Amino acid sequence: MTYDDTPRRGPYDVLFRHVLSRLDPEQAHRFTVRALDCAHRLPGGPQLLRTLFGGADPMQDTGPTRRVLGAEHRSPLGLAAGFDKDGEVSLALLDLGFGHVEVGTVTAKAQPGNPRPRSFRLIDDRALINRMGFNNHGAQALAHRLARARRTERGQRAVIGVNIGKSKVTALEDAAEDYRFSARLLAPYASYLAINVSSPNTPGLRDLQSVEMLRPILEAVAEEAAAVQIRLRRDVPVLVKIAPDLHDGDVRAVAQLAAEVGLAGVIATNTTIARPDSLVTPRPRVEQIGAGGLSGPMLTERSLQVLQLLRTTLPQDAVIISCGGVTTAQDVRDRLDAGADLVQGYTAMIYEGPSWPGRLARELGPHW
Ligand code: FNR
Repeated sequence: MTYDDTPRRGPYDVLFRHVLSRLDPEQAHRFTVRALDCAHRLPGGPQLLRTLFGGADPMQDTGPTRRVLGAEHRSPLGLAAGFDKDGEVSLALLDLGFGHVEVGTVTAKAQPGNPRPRSFRLIDDRALINRMGFNNHGAQALAHRLARARRTERGQRAVIGVNIGKSKVTALEDAAEDYRFSARLLAPYASYLAINVSSPNTPGLRDLQSVEMLRPILEAVAEEAAAVQIRLRRDVPVLVKIAPDLHDGDVRAVAQLAAEVGLAGVIATNTTIARPDSLVTPRPRVEQIGAGGLSGPMLTERSLQVLQLLRTTLPQDAVIISCGGVTTAQDVRDRLDAGADLVQGYTAMIYEGPSWPGRLARELGPHW
């Protein structure tokens, strides 16, 4: 089945087929972020977004929520890191119906990322390949933006996780101090911190998943979160985000380490460097795209396996956020049934459009 054989879903489908899919994916992304930002700034904009796309009103809606990581969630589905790297539209994204938004990855130092083009659609697989390389404005800029957002009552209630990564110029052996710098700036504004050691697009980053390299990083970030707890009397849970390409034994080792260091949990998974034979996109095209992380439905199976592995390894009260290849309400249900506390998606939003999070939240019902 190709993309053109899939069912059509109203106005976004027309916009995607005739406009967005003809733009470079990064340009289409910038266009979408600007449109969301503009809509949200209009008088009555947040309400308009909620009416159009079905997000609940966080100030008025008294519907049921579930407490996870110390915050109230209206939906199990959150937006995965990478979409709102600099926290420009996190409140608008919550108005679309996500239960939480993970901003970032940000790094201690602002950086431009890899040369363009660096984001590619595999339309017939409903997948993406990206090698963005943590393009972002830096931890300081994000801290300012989040501080402003948190000043409003609405912003205080928003569940915004902050995903931090290593600056490209920082040597691997200095990684812990680099993560510590970002954690110190951002922990005061984060609903939780996610330590990203699993992006395939920063040279050597994934080597930080080995227990010896990982321990000082987890400890440094956990110390900064604990300092906020003492200063502001607010818990800042810390999670580590892992790759689907880890061997099972390494997944278990990271999980044991996370528990030992006292982290709140694990986010699984990031994108994969694998290029499965089952891709519909012709092999020469995939090879022409080159290096990068593959996301979308090809991740579903491995992401679910990693979740099951984590559930049997981590202590019962550890939180698992399951991510990778989630498209339908049934996918979310499968992750929850396998022991996930929350679920995230990114690629499905590109193909399904802005009504996707609200639709899934409605399909899952209030008592997920
Ligand atoms: C990502 N992802 C990602 N993850 C992360 O921890 N930090 C990041 O900066 C990014 N950036 C990023 C950019 C783009 C264009 C994509 C498609 C993905 C990975 C993302 O958060 C998620 O883990 C994977 O995409 C798997 O989920 P989906 O897309 O299959 O739902």
